[in-house]
Amino acid sequence: MFVLIWLVSCVSRLHRSPTLLHLRHSRITHSLKSNQMASTFLSLPSVSPSAAQSVQDKCKDKMKSGNAFKSAFFGKDKQPLSMKTKSHGRITMAVAVKASRFDSITMAPPDPILGVSEAFKADTNELKLNLGVGAYRTEELQPYVLKVVRKAENLMLERGENKEYLPIEGLAAFNKATAELLFGADNPVLHEQRVATIQGLSGTGSLRIAAALIERYFPGAKILISSPTWGNHKNIFNDARVPWSEYRYYDPKTVGLDFDGMIEDIKAAPEGSFVLLHGCAHNPTGIDPTPQQWEKIADVIQEKNHFPFFDVAYQGFASGSLDEDASSVRLFAARGMELLVAQSYSKNLGLYAERVGAINVLCSSPDAAIRVKSQMKRIARPMYSNPPVHGARIVANVVGNPDFFNEWKDEMEMMAGRIKSVRQKLYNNLSSKDKTGKDWSFVLKQIGMFSFTGLNKAQSDNMTDKWHIYMTKDGRISLAGLSAAKCEYLADAIIDSYHNVS
Ligand code: LMR
Repeated sequence: MFVLIWLVSCVSRLHRSPTLLHLRHSRITHSLKSNQMASTFLSLPSVSPSAAQSVQDKCKDKMKSGNAFKSAFFGKDKQPLSMKTKSHGRITMAVAVKASRFDSITMAPPDPILGVSEAFKADTNELKLNLGVGAYRTEELQPYVLKVVRKAENLMLERGENKEYLPIEGLAAFNKATAELLFGADNPVLHEQRVATIQGLSGTGSLRIAAALIERYFPGAKILISSPTWGNHKNIFNDARVPWSEYRYYDPKTVGLDFDGMIEDIKAAPEGSFVLLHGCAHNPTGIDPTPQQWEKIADVIQEKNHFPFFDVAYQGFASGSLDEDASSVRLFAARGMELLVAQSYSKNLGLYAERVGAINVLCSSPDAAIRVKSQMKRIARPMYSNPPVHGARIVANVVGNPDFFNEWKDEMEMMAGRIKSVRQKLYNNLSSKDKTGKDWSFVLKQIGMFSFTGLNKAQSDNMTDKWHIYMTKDGRISLAGLSAAKCEYLADAIIDSYHNVS
């Protein structure tokens, strides 16, 4: 490396020299040979042959001396270096690049959801619209920080809170608040101290802790995942080495729930399997079971001695009511079932980047809850040690202050309301503009941030390539990223993609 730096400095000195610069159309090519292989060439269009020769000689002398030469081209472990050509203005030189022991690592594919945002950023067309990631935007399509979050943060700043480590299980006030929001503050399962709750790194991190718990204490047990599901679920269970299979969920013919298929598949799974359920606002379909269907799902899970495992990422954000969106979890808890619930505050409090959530394990006894909690802490410690404090404090402050809590509920209703209104407007545009008589009413039946359009991959590609509308390739669009002003444009794009691309 030293030799390369010296070589470059020789060249740049030559290049700066006024006596040499006026001499044109000359070139220095310098080859360095060792018994193995190494060469470097420098090309200077304005350097004279004699000047070039003197540089060449100087370089040679330096190269010959000591081990500098060898170590410049061969690493400590004697690996040969490959050559790369670099251009710096008029100087072209081949730079030696050391072969890496990471060369066998191939390029990972872009993430099917977060990768869409990267592609969106790179698009310069002014019509572009990002309906990929599930993140709330204002009517002006700007990210939104809840006013109540700002107020809680100001309060935290005034108090001058410290930045000490949290315990492994997270902030106590947050854990209490989150379990109460989920089960309801008066729920006997809390008074009986049967819930083990630890703060997690939002929904993903919380799911990952539970997946590790399953792998460690229920070896070989499999988890059933809806088909389709959120793009990260399979990654999480794959990485935790929990085997999974799918249960039918979406019926493309009705663009609705395949309830019979779902029940059949849950029944057919080996006894004691885990069943991953979306507590509300199923991602990506936006299709939820009715209360009667939830009862039936609970019956089958109970009959088969399965474990229900809820992913609750949208509490309060789907219907606008925290209690209504937790009703599926509460129904199962009221039946005396043991269950797991991962929570996220990314959507309902807009704390995406704060990574705040929790994993709750409802056990049959308080003693089991204590032991389960101790093991979840044991899993968390070597993974990330302890969770971040800022988002957890925001949640605890918002929930713990009655005024803030009411403001939060109002803002949540406002956000859920805006999504519902663009959903309606999109439907109105689709049904009035599409003259083929196609029934678009599924858009209205779906709930939450997303609409599952039924567009296939080629049609979704058309949405992006022709219309600059970014969405996931499974046909999901995030209505939280849509404005009323863009509904007509989106409807045109969907109609075109649906009818003109197969
Ligand atoms: C989504 O589904 O778009 C969100 O949950 C963001 C994510 O992490 O995938």
